[in-house]
Amino acid sequence: MSSGGLANRIGVASRLLPVTGWRALNDLRESRLHSSLEAPLFREINLEMTIVCNLRCPFCWWWGTNGVAPKIIREKQPLWKDQLTFEEIQKVFLPLKGKKVHVYLSGGEPFERKDAIDIIEFISSMGLTVSFTTNGTLLTDPIIERLVKVKGVTIVHFSIDGPQEIHDSIRGKGNFATTIANAQKILALRENRRPQVWANSVITNALFGKTTELVRTIEKAGFDRHVFQHLWFADRPTLDQHKQALMDDFGIVDTAAEGHLMELPGKEYGRKVYEELEGTRRAVFPFQMWTAPRLSLEESEKYYSDMKFCVVKSCGKPWAGINIKADGTVEFCPDQWIAYSVGNVREAPLLELWNNDAAKKFRSKLNEHGLWPGCVHCCAINWRQQ
Ligand SMILES: C[S@@+](CC[C@H](N)C(=O)[O-])C[C@H]1O[C@@H](n2cnc3c(N)ncnc32)[C@H](O)[C@@H]1O
Ligand code: SF4
Ligand code: SF4
Repeated sequence: MSSGGLANRIGVASRLLPVTGWRALNDLRESRLHSSLEAPLFREINLEMTIVCNLRCPFCWWWGTNGVAPKIIREKQPLWKDQLTFEEIQKVFLPLKGKKVHVYLSGGEPFERKDAIDIIEFISSMGLTVSFTTNGTLLTDPIIERLVKVKGVTIVHFSIDGPQEIHDSIRGKGNFATTIANAQKILALRENRRPQVWANSVITNALFGKTTELVRTIEKAGFDRHVFQHLWFADRPTLDQHKQALMDDFGIVDTAAEGHLMELPGKEYGRKVYEELEGTRRAVFPFQMWTAPRLSLEESEKYYSDMKFCVVKSCGKPWAGINIKADGTVEFCPDQWIAYSVGNVREAPLLELWNNDAAKKFRSKLNEHGLWPGCVHCCAINWRQQ
């Protein structure tokens, strides 16, 4: 059996197992994947549509309190100068026609691009599947009418950070109502329950005592599922160690992860998060509420108080997925954790970059010593829904 076949079977089996079994099988799957520096074709592309955003959520690594977007944009005036054009994006995806690849669109806010829906339609017309996360405020009726007809769109994730008052205090007055209304337009127009419409919430202390109310509101609004994701963050010492480790490995000064800077919330905070999420899960059952990742009490305490604690101890991302930045730079790591680049799609085809020397060097370093310090809160190992 090929390692891909084994990996798939392990993947299916793991969905039927409790948390600890899933983690053990995941480690086994990833150790099989890691055995070669050359990887089979990626299964997922993360396409960063733009870093521009109309909102300013405080926890966001782009536009939040410590977000890095303003600095990048200052250095790259005018704002849109370096962004891939629709034609350049078409050129990237044409060679992937008919391949079994899922494309996740990220941002910034994907719909800050006026051609976002053209890009989605094009990717789907190549036979690939697409999902994305949006703040939902820039969707218009004509966009929604086209969106529900795109065959390849699997899931639309709407970011909702609390009941109306909390959401609006984070994302701006009136935005809760706009986002819910746009999600409901998709729900009303879609056929055969496709695309799926999910709510994505970052669990913050603003939500303590309010998560059950939030999930019930989401269920009532007709969403298919609610996913809570733990904060992705790093404290100052971890960011410094992360930067030093990347300097030692690649000789680069990598400050990409600075947008994740946050003080450690602490063990007590972790306990409250655990109680909040597990209490709500029981209260809203059988509505589908997932947490990414699902943590035991002890794990939740450690997640928020100990930056050496890792839910999953290895990362298979560089063997399975690739990240295309808004300016065409190709990296393995999503969300600004590591800016190590293997090239740019403007200069070489994506399929060439995937297994070039720079890509193999990154994989070999990961094999050699495991995760870098900041990896512990990267979504690549934490966005596992249970
Ligand atoms: C960066 S946003 C991009 C898409 C879009 N602008 C939005 O807000 O949905 C992607 C997702 O990351 C979440 N997010 C932002 N900062 C986060 C953090 N520090 N920890 C966990 N999730 C975060 C957002 O709430 C959103 O669901
Ligand atoms: S809407 Fe999305 S990209 Fe914009 S600030 Fe909020 S989380 Fe960040
Ligand atoms: S866990 Fe680390 S190596 Fe893996 S994708 Fe995230 S930042 Fe990159």
